[in-house]
Amino acid sequence: MAQRVRKAVLPVAGLGTRFLPATKVIPKEMIPVVDKPVVQYAVEEARAAGIEEFIFVSAEGKDAIAAHFSAQAVLEASLEAKNKMAELKLVRDASLPSGHMKVVIQGEPLGLGHAVWCAKDLVGREPFAVILPDDMVLSQTACMKQLIDAHAKVGGHVVAVEDVPRDQTSRYGILDVASDDGRLAAARGLVEKPQPEKAPSTLAIIGRYVLDHSVFDELDKHTRGAGNEIQLTDALNKTISRTPFHGLRFEGKRYDCGTRVGFIEANVAFALANPELAPRLKPLLARLMNS
Ligand code: G1P
Repeated sequence: MAQRVRKAVLPVAGLGTRFLPATKVIPKEMIPVVDKPVVQYAVEEARAAGIEEFIFVSAEGKDAIAAHFSAQAVLEASLEAKNKMAELKLVRDASLPSGHMKVVIQGEPLGLGHAVWCAKDLVGREPFAVILPDDMVLSQTACMKQLIDAHAKVGGHVVAVEDVPRDQTSRYGILDVASDDGRLAAARGLVEKPQPEKAPSTLAIIGRYVLDHSVFDELDKHTRGAGNEIQLTDALNKTISRTPFHGLRFEGKRYDCGTRVGFIEANVAFALANPELAPRLKPLLARLMNS
C-alpha cells in the first residue's frame, strides 16, 4: 500500500513574459480564467484530491499568490458589515487554513527540476504531488485525484499523460513506453522535449505528477539538461531503474494556459462548463463566429 499523498508543490516562479504587459505587476498565475485566478483552480483540484499542504515555489514580486490564499481581514470585515455573505464565502473559500501553506523562493530560474528541488526540505521523505498551474484540466473527477488513486495501486512515480501530435513532442517530456494497457503506461525511460524524429513515443507528460521522494536524490546533483536547465524529466528518468514510473491517461481535457490562444480556449471552455454562463455565452459565441 503506497503512502498517502498529503503535500503538493506548485512551481509559480515564472516571469510570465508571454503575457506581458498583463504580467508586469500581476503574477501570471493570478490572471483569471472566467472568474478565478488560474492558480486557484490548481489548489482546488489538489484539495479535491485530499492534498492538505501547499508548497509554492515562488519568486520575488509574486506575493499576491500567497496573499490570495490567506485571510484578508479588512475585506472580510467589510463584506460582513454589508451582509454580503455570498461574496464573503467566495473570499473565505479561496483561503487555505493557516499553517497549510508554505512559500519558498526560487532565487534563480534554473528550470522545473530546480523549482521542485527547492521544496525538498518542506516535502521530506514522503510521496508528493506537483501541479503546474498553467495546465488546466476540465474533468469529472479531479485529475490529481485520478493520479493519487492510481498511485495508491502502483506506487512509484505516476504522472498525467496524453497523446500529442508528433510535431509537438519538443514541447513536452515524452515517455519511452515499456508496456501499456490503454490507461496506464509503464515507462522504461523519459526524454525531455525531443525533436519529433527522436521521440520514443508521442505520449507526453502534462503538468500533474505524483512523485516518489527518490527524485530528490537525482535533483540534488543539479545536472543541466535541455535548454541548459535542471529538468524534472531527466531526474525522473534517472530513477526509473529503482522507482517504477507510470503515465496515466486521465479522464478529462487539458488546456494549456501557457500560451495566449490556449488561455483564451481555457476561458471559453471553462465558461461553457459553467451552467450559469453557458446559456448566455453560446448564442454570443455563435454570433461572433458568423460575423
Ligand atoms: C514542463 C516539463 C515537461 C512537461 C510540461 C507539461 O515543460 O519540463 O516535461 O511535459 O511541463 O506542461 P514546460 O511547459 O515548463 O516547458
